[in-house]
Amino acid sequence: MTRTLILDTVHQVGETVTLNGWVDTKRDHGKITFIDLRDRSGVVQCVGFKMMSELTVESVVSLTGLVKARPEKLINPDLPTGTVEIEVQEYEILNKAEELPILVKEDGRKENEEVRLKYRYLDLRRERMQKIVRMRSAFSRALRDQLYAENFVEVETPLLTKSTKEGARDFIVPSRFNAGKFYALPQSPQQYKQLLMTAGVERYFQFARCIRDEDLRADRGFEFTQLDLEMSFATQEDVTGFVEQMVKTAMKEMGGVLRDETFPVFTYAEAMEQYGEDRFDLRSEEEKEQGVLAFAWVIDWPFFKKVDKKDVAEVRDGKSGWTFTHNPFSMPHKEHLDDHLAGENIENIMTYQYDLICNGYEVGGGSIRAHQPEVLKQTFRIMGYSDQEIEESIGHMLRAFELGTPPHGGIALGLDRLVMLLAGETSLKETIAFPMTSTGRTAIMDAPADVSDEQLKELHLRVVEAE
Ligand code: AMO
Repeated sequence: MTRTLILDTVHQVGETVTLNGWVDTKRDHGKITFIDLRDRSGVVQCVGFKMMSELTVESVVSLTGLVKARPEKLINPDLPTGTVEIEVQEYEILNKAEELPILVKEDGRKENEEVRLKYRYLDLRRERMQKIVRMRSAFSRALRDQLYAENFVEVETPLLTKSTKEGARDFIVPSRFNAGKFYALPQSPQQYKQLLMTAGVERYFQFARCIRDEDLRADRGFEFTQLDLEMSFATQEDVTGFVEQMVKTAMKEMGGVLRDETFPVFTYAEAMEQYGEDRFDLRSEEEKEQGVLAFAWVIDWPFFKKVDKKDVAEVRDGKSGWTFTHNPFSMPHKEHLDDHLAGENIENIMTYQYDLICNGYEVGGGSIRAHQPEVLKQTFRIMGYSDQEIEESIGHMLRAFELGTPPHGGIALGLDRLVMLLAGETSLKETIAFPMTSTGRTAIMDAPADVSDEQLKELHLRVVEAE
């Protein structure tokens, strides 16, 4: 018999149906056993006479039974299937669940994180987590729909690549064919998306996995997903205008409540003066309780900052003591272009950089790019790169910029952070199917792990004792 979804049983009173799902709960009353059966559509009460007492919670079963209307006084108004129950005729255990290491019925907030992640496939069965997994999918779709409607083209870019300067350390991958050489995993598709503008794509987007070796925090992972986009012949207002509309529409489709119909705009200087930080929370206490989303733009950023000596990656990049605040590929403000090209008044050079913030988090960042080779080259000179280092690091970009690259700009939105805010959560882990632990270990599978001596040999690597 073909399978019926549990939620559909309410329309099938008097019929015999076959349901497939998990045993959500079980109550044994001697000769009668009640179970709640759960599938992706919901749960329904099933009654077995002299059967089913062997079933264990979270086992997978297929059962066939008669859909019966519940007597008036037994109707459960809290349950979408509360008007019916299934009188089980026969069932088959498709997979028996042994004793569970974690409870699936609760929201999981009190459960130990390591254990939740070790058994993530169970953890994800919780109603709360199922909602988030599905919300993330629907939200991504709402964003994608709008990008397609505006003729953006979805393009994938390489994962095995060369270091791209996003200000964090790289994860590197040894090459078997080139002894002693390494790929870097992308911190973002920044350079490739710009090269797609050179390639004439004009409007690009990608749900891009980005990988950065950063200190982990509740709102920061080694791996995360950006909705990355880039537009040719676009001004700052073109990019922010489109993105604002897209985010607003998708958020509302998901039931999000926005504080502002038009996102307020602050310059970096205003933000620092009024809030003392560049990602601030505009909500009142009452709005916080209501779960309102308060988006805002922060624009007009300084291009450069003094290197923080504590940060290894910054010291590596900012050889002169100056490094970029956001993105070395950005364009200086028109009125600061002369200073930029002359390498003067560096602390005053502003860039067409825009950050989208929400409820105190940075949820997106982008800029109008330098598309002329001399402007980009000068950015690296200011950071203290020699001509040879510039060639090695971004020579390929400079070449492309000599071969017909249109003016362009774009942005990347932090998808995990947006879903986190939408779901009212405070940790990215709640929005990612298989996140890492706080100490950077993978869920379920135990990595990082040892590899065999043969593998190391093939990769021309030798492991030395840690100092
Ligand atoms: P940026 O580095 O600002 O810009 O990243 C864009 C957005 O990605 C999110 N994000 C993160 N989310 C989770 N974990 C992390 N470790 C993490 N790092 C960043 C943030 C951030 O706003 N190439 C540029 C974009 C561009 O200029 O178009 C870039 O990657 O929400």
